[in-house]
This record gives sequence, structure tokens and C-alpha cells, in this order.
Amino acid sequence: MGKYIVEGQARLQGELRVQGSKNAALPILAATLLTPHSVVHNCPNLSDIGAASNILEYLGCRCSLEEGTMTVDTAGCCRDDIPDNLMREMRSSIVFLGAIIARCARARISMPGGCELGPRPIDMHLSGLKKLGVSIRDDYGYLDCRAEHGLHGAKISLPFPSVGATENIMIAASVARGDTEIHNAAREPEIYDLAAFLCACGGKVQIDSSGTVYVSGVEQLQSCEHTVIPDRIVAATWLSCAAITGSRLHLYDVEPQHLTACIPMFEEAGCELRAGESTLDIVSPRRLLPLRMVRTMPYPGFPTDAQAPFMAMCALSSGTSVFVENIFENRYKHAGELCRMGANIKVEGRVAVVQGVPLLHGAKVECTDLRGGASLVVAALAAQGDSEISEIRHVERGYEDLEGNLRSLGAKIKKVEKSGDIC
Ligand code: UD1
Repeated sequence: MGKYIVEGQARLQGELRVQGSKNAALPILAATLLTPHSVVHNCPNLSDIGAASNILEYLGCRCSLEEGTMTVDTAGCCRDDIPDNLMREMRSSIVFLGAIIARCARARISMPGGCELGPRPIDMHLSGLKKLGVSIRDDYGYLDCRAEHGLHGAKISLPFPSVGATENIMIAASVARGDTEIHNAAREPEIYDLAAFLCACGGKVQIDSSGTVYVSGVEQLQSCEHTVIPDRIVAATWLSCAAITGSRLHLYDVEPQHLTACIPMFEEAGCELRAGESTLDIVSPRRLLPLRMVRTMPYPGFPTDAQAPFMAMCALSSGTSVFVENIFENRYKHAGELCRMGANIKVEGRVAVVQGVPLLHGAKVECTDLRGGASLVVAALAAQGDSEISEIRHVERGYEDLEGNLRSLGAKIKKVEKSGDIC
């Protein structure tokens, strides 16, 4: 397994282009199943995107990813199941359920298990699809789903604005008979991007200011071309790298509007930010200030995915910061690894108290999940001495060429493959 070796305390300077959003691209790739042919630009080259294209190919589609453009041809689609090994490659594979059932009127997928973030139930996905006319049977760990009389529109009210459930329902409803309303739907930018994709294919999807999603089913979606939005979490991670190292950074191909919950937090930490139309500049102080309270919330609140990189920043700040994780039960595994680098973090249930220390030191640490892994890189960039970060496959699920991007800014980071080769 690959590792990053990071020699800390290098000052960063320069500019980075922000990659396309993984969390927007994945549901869009699932929705391509309902079109004859789709061209998706700004698709990041990541293992999770590879997992989505493996699923599409297993189903019989032809996919190719070249220079950030994924082309999906669904003419050969001949299967309606996803085997266990492909489901396990990526938690988001559940978002294929709505698309498969809408295309084939049947779907058989293995039940996605828990993951690094704790139990991740799918009851809202299933009850939403049931309302659209799907019958679901649990068959020894497989979900056997059928829409014998086709899909029909429905009024659905989600008990929590689940991103994945909203996406699954939107995709299935786009070709159902009649109208669907999704109340208390998720309002993340990735939901709007999926709506934009469906509309570009001839689907009829609208989202009102209260976040209710209205879908008028059409007979068929058409071929289309779409450009995925920039990745707001990757942007927040690069800003965290600049903030913790007292550096300046210019980001381009970024959507500052999607970072409205993060930008004030960087400012509270003492950074200066300037947002352009598709650019963001950050200038960071020598020592960061603590953040009084970071509460993760559904969008437009502070994103759960940015909690870990911000925690790394706070670990080196001049006071006490408090985090409350409201989305996932078990999303503080990185705290223990940060403590190995000298951080002072106490976790109690959903609350973490971070007492800033004057110095972090390099250590051998292990990525526990995607964003937790990114937080270790953020901390290692500012730590005194060398860090060895293992299990970087987690990080590679979400960051395109992380080490190359950071090296271009002057960071001393290299990737070592299992064999000991340095890349
Ligand atoms: C979540 C994040 C999303 C992030 C993604 C990857 C939120 C609201 N969602 O999306 O921004 O990009 O993780 O890290 O921040 N739940 C149920 N039953 C369900 C579905 C969800 O109980 O059927 C619960 C989950 O356990 C979790 C919460 O609802 O506690 C949010 O889940 P959801 O938004 O569906 O998660 P993701 O789609 O993975």
C-alpha cells in the first residue's frame, strides 16, 4: 500500500486548479444509465470514479475517461444487478439503485454495509423508491427490487435532507409517470448539479427556494453533454493546507458561492480571503486563531466533509476550538492520529474539543477514511520533522494527484509505493 512521506514546515506559494467534484460526478454517472449517450466533462480521475465506471461496464455500458471527460454509451446495457464486490468498492454505489430500477424495472444489489464513518443506513432511499412504485425484498443480504407496473410520481417527505436519498429519488422520478415532489430534500450544490444534468438530458426538474424538488417524469432522457461543478471540499482542503502553513494560495476554477460556510471560518482563524467569480485567494497569518464552534450541518451549513481538515488547522491554533459533528456518528477517527502528531484533542460522542498546541511533530500515522486522511496531510505539512502517512488509498478516492498538486506549491511530499519506489 502507498504512503506519503511529508517533510513539514515548508511555506507554500502558488496557484492550483480545483478538480471537478467527485460527489457531483458520481450520481451524474449513475443517471447516464437513463440516457443513450452522455459526455461528462470535468470528471476527476479518482478510484471512486473508476469504481462507478466499473459498475457501468458490468451493466453492459461502454465508458471511457480521457482528459477529464467521461463518455458513457449505454446501448449495450443488459444487466440489472450489481455484485457484492462492486458494491463494496464504494459506498456511493447505492445511488445506482434508482437508475437501474428506472431503466430495467428491476434491480438486484447487495446491501451496502457500514463504512469508516459508522453505520450508513439506506432506509430513506428505500422508502422513497417504494413510494415511486418499487417493491423491495431482502433476499439473504441482497435487495431484490421490482417496479412491475412501472414507476409513478409521488409526494415524498424526507425525515432528514439525505443527499444520497434525494439523488436516488430524483433520478428514478425523472422517467416515472407523473409528477414527484421531494420535501425536505437535500440542498447541496451536488443536488443542483444533478438537476442541471437531468435537465440537459430533457428531464424536468425544478428546485424551489425552500429546497423542495419537483420532478415531472418524461418518457426518456436524451443524450447530452454536461460539465461537473468544481469540488468544494477539495477547495476547502487546499485552503486548509495554506492556512496551517502560514501561506498564500490562489485557487482557480473554484465556485466561492459553494464555500459560504467555510470562508467565514477561515476568516475567524485569522486568514484573509478574496473571492472572484471563479477564483479564491487566501493569505494566512503566522499562527491561526481557534474557532469557537464548528457545527457540521446539511448545506448551506458547515460541511461534514470539511470537519477533519479544519480540525487539523485548529490543532495548531492559539486556543480552544469546539467541533460538533451532526451528520455522522463516527467521524472523529482522525483525531487519534492527529494526537500522535502532538495534537491535544478530546472526543466525547459527537463533540470534539481541540486545544491548540504551539507545535505539531512528524509521526507515523494512518489514514482512517478519505477526509480524515486529508487532515493528516494538512497537519503533516505544518509539523516539525517527517511524517509517514499510510493507507493513502482512502485519500486517493477523493483527491486527484494530491502529492503533485502540493509539490507544485513547494511542499515536500512524496508518494512511496509498496515496493519502495518513489513517485
Ligand atoms: C453525506 C453528506 C454529503 C457528503 C457525503 C460524503 C450531508 C447531509 N451529507 O452524504 O454532504 O458529501 O456524505 O461524505 O452532509 N441516513 C439515514 N438513512 C438513509 C440515508 C441517510 O439514516 O437512508 C443518515 C445517515 O446515516 C447520516 C445522514 O442521514 O447520518 C446523512 O446522510 P446522507 O446525506 O444520506 O449521506 P450521504 O449521501 O452519504
